[in-house]
Amino acid sequence: MTLYNSKNITESFAAVKWDDGKLILLDQRILPREIIYLDYDSASAVADAIKDMIVRGAPAIGIAAAYAVVLAARSAYQAASDNWRDVIEAELKILSDSRPTAVNLNWAIAEMRKAFESIEGEPEPVLLEMAIRIHDEDIAANHEMGRLGAELINSGSQVVTHCNAGALATGGYGTALGVIRTAHTNGLIEKVYSSETRPWMQGARLTSWELQQDNIPVNLVIDSAVSALMKSGDINWLIVGSDRIAANGDVANKVGTYSHAISAKYHGVKVMVVAPFSTVDMRIQSGDDIPIEYRNTTEITDFNGICVAPNDIEAINPAFDVTPAKLVDVIVTEKGIVQDPDAEKMLALFG
Ligand code: MRU
Repeated sequence: MTLYNSKNITESFAAVKWDDGKLILLDQRILPREIIYLDYDSASAVADAIKDMIVRGAPAIGIAAAYAVVLAARSAYQAASDNWRDVIEAELKILSDSRPTAVNLNWAIAEMRKAFESIEGEPEPVLLEMAIRIHDEDIAANHEMGRLGAELINSGSQVVTHCNAGALATGGYGTALGVIRTAHTNGLIEKVYSSETRPWMQGARLTSWELQQDNIPVNLVIDSAVSALMKSGDINWLIVGSDRIAANGDVANKVGTYSHAISAKYHGVKVMVVAPFSTVDMRIQSGDDIPIEYRNTTEITDFNGICVAPNDIEAINPAFDVTPAKLVDVIVTEKGIVQDPDAEKMLALFG
């Protein structure tokens, strides 16, 4: 694994890049203090990077997985050019198991698999072209969602966002932050409140930084300040991304989204969920069936590597929660929007 530091990187911050036959990931564990890129030439190393949150955010995980399939195919073909399709399976399983909630991971692997049968000879060129297409289409989808979502926002709006659904979480531009970016460019956004997102602090470390880079006015608040903020009457929208949307419009996203949505409904704040079609899982009937990742409890017992909770405390660390469709005002995808989502409307757009 090679370390690049920011001084060698001329491009602006992309979470995922492909360069010189390698996958390059921006290490999101240490942002914004350090901008370090790490490079990968094996699918199992990418699976570890996904598990360890070097790359995170549902679409970015999917794109990294697509490039990891290219790496897996390269090594499978080197090991056994005649039956690389069998040899690759073990690596794909490791990749597919790396994080459970974001459906984009398995969506991307399935998209890549579609090409397997028709490939003759070396698989890498064909698969790389597909991975680049998945990456490019994600960026294009984000811009389209930005356009569609921004049309719903009135001038002078103040919005709350949770976690990071920005350029860092996608191929570029962002889903929730894509809408906020477009709305800001169109002069509609007065202020963004970024909730810190305990325990991994995506809001504090990533979203605040990303918005600062674009000179979008942002205030960082602790997660539990959001209800009182909404009570003030100054907030117009809660705008978030998603890791998986069920067929009835229930939305899995970073833990804390559900309580923000309850507060939003209580205070008359509208709730917008912005996610590409690759996040919609029509095979899952309701949010109850979405697998929720439970992460290591040291994420909540420790602070900066020091345990601040009592020794041997039993902790529970679900990384996601499910917001029922009835708390969501609109789901924005690149295929169109679903107002007041339910199973029928979801089927009409995505069936
Ligand atoms: O645990 P993370 O940081 O991968 O969780 C990310 C989120 O919950 C995002 O809101 C979601 O993936 C949408 S990203 C466009």
